[in-house]
Amino acid sequence: MILRPLRRHKALSCMLAVGAFCLIAVFAVAARKPKKEVGPAGQLSRAPGWAGSLRNPYQGQAEAAAAGKKLFEHHCAACHGPDGRGMERAANLHSTLIQDAPPGALFWALRNGRIRKGMPSWSGLPDQQIWQIVTYVKTLK
Ligand code: HEC
Repeated sequence: MILRPLRRHKALSCMLAVGAFCLIAVFAVAARKPKKEVGPAGQLSRAPGWAGSLRNPYQGQAEAAAAGKKLFEHHCAACHGPDGRGMERAANLHSTLIQDAPPGALFWALRNGRIRKGMPSWSGLPDQQIWQIVTYVKTLK
C-alpha cells in the first residue's frame, strides 16, 4: 500500500528523464545540420578552386555546342526540361548562378552530381562529352 505511490513517482521521473534525453538528442541533431539550405545550384559554390580554373577545350565552339545539345536532350532534358529552364527541383540552367559560374566549376558539378538532392553524377561520361554539355549549357544565356 505504501509502495504504490512511490513506484508511480519512480515511473514518472523515469519518463521525464527519457523525455529530456530525447529533447537533447533532437537539439544535437538539429545543431549539426547546416543552417542555410543551399539552393538547387548549391554544388557550384562548393567547387574547389582548381576546378574553377579548368579550361573548357571547346569554349565557344559551335560544333561542340551542337554535340552537347544532343547529349543534353538525351541525358538531362527529362529533369531540366527540353529548354533547360528547370522542372520541380531541377535547377534552371539559364539562371545567372549557373551562367556566371566558371566552365570548370560546371564540369566539376556535373561529374560529382548532388545525388542526395536528385542530381545524378555524370562521371560515367567521357570528359569530352561533359565539356560538350558545358559548352551547350553556356549557350543558354
Ligand atoms: C534525375 C533528374 C536529373 C537529371 C537527369 C539531371 N539533373 Fe541536373 N539537377 C537535378 C536536380 C534535382 C538538381 C538540383 C540539385 C540540388 O537541389 O542541389 C540539379 C542540379 C543541376 C545543376 C546545378 C548543380 C549545382 O548544384 O550547383 C546543374 C548545372 C545541372 N543540374 C545540370 C545537369 C545536366 C547538364 C544534366 C545532364 C548531363 C543533368 N543536370 C541531369 C536533376 C537532374
